Amino acid sequence: MLQQCLGIEDLLTYAAACRRCSLGETRQCVVFGEGNAQSGIMLVGEAPGEKEDATGKPFIGRAGKLLDSVLAEVGLQRQEIFITSVVKCRPPKNRYPRREEVSACLPILQRQIELIKPRIIVCLGNLATRNLIDNQAKITEVRGRWFVKDGSKLLPTFHPAAVFHDRKKLEKIKEDFLQVKETYQKMV
Ligand code: URA
Repeated sequence: MLQQCLGIEDLLTYAAACRRCSLGETRQCVVFGEGNAQSGIMLVGEAPGEKEDATGKPFIGRAGKLLDSVLAEVGLQRQEIFITSVVKCRPPKNRYPRREEVSACLPILQRQIELIKPRIIVCLGNLATRNLIDNQAKITEVRGRWFVKDGSKLLPTFHPAAVFHDRKKLEKIKEDFLQVKETYQKMV
């Protein structure tokens, strides 16, 4: 079914009507992701929060503002990047996505990656890292290290929301995004 989505617009139409898991009953909006679909850089978060659910736009809440400040500081333009999450619908009360929700949603992310073919994928936090790189990975151990898969370079870093529990992670996220910028500049 998803293979029949030949372009990103088809996939968006498919996702907007998705009922593959029970989050389809509680969500307000599917947060498909946005930005430059020709982009060489894709950011993958965890799941939408309240503001994202209300608007359909990724990373516009508190974690999104922090992400924007990191991007601005290292000199990356948000509109030049494609930003999405592993799970496209908000889990009630922002709880961690359940295994069956992740399995239901992952094929959409995989198809986004096939269609966009990003040269660099930044995995924001454990959920993206485990689903795109290694299902045993611990973000504290792998962050800042590059992985290569299916023609993309992947870099795990902390999810921006982790900074609200530990301010020291902000510097690590900035370091990692600086690597992203420098690596990308060498590619283009
Ligand atoms: N956190 C995420 O992982 N994704 C969003 O879209 C918003 C917050």
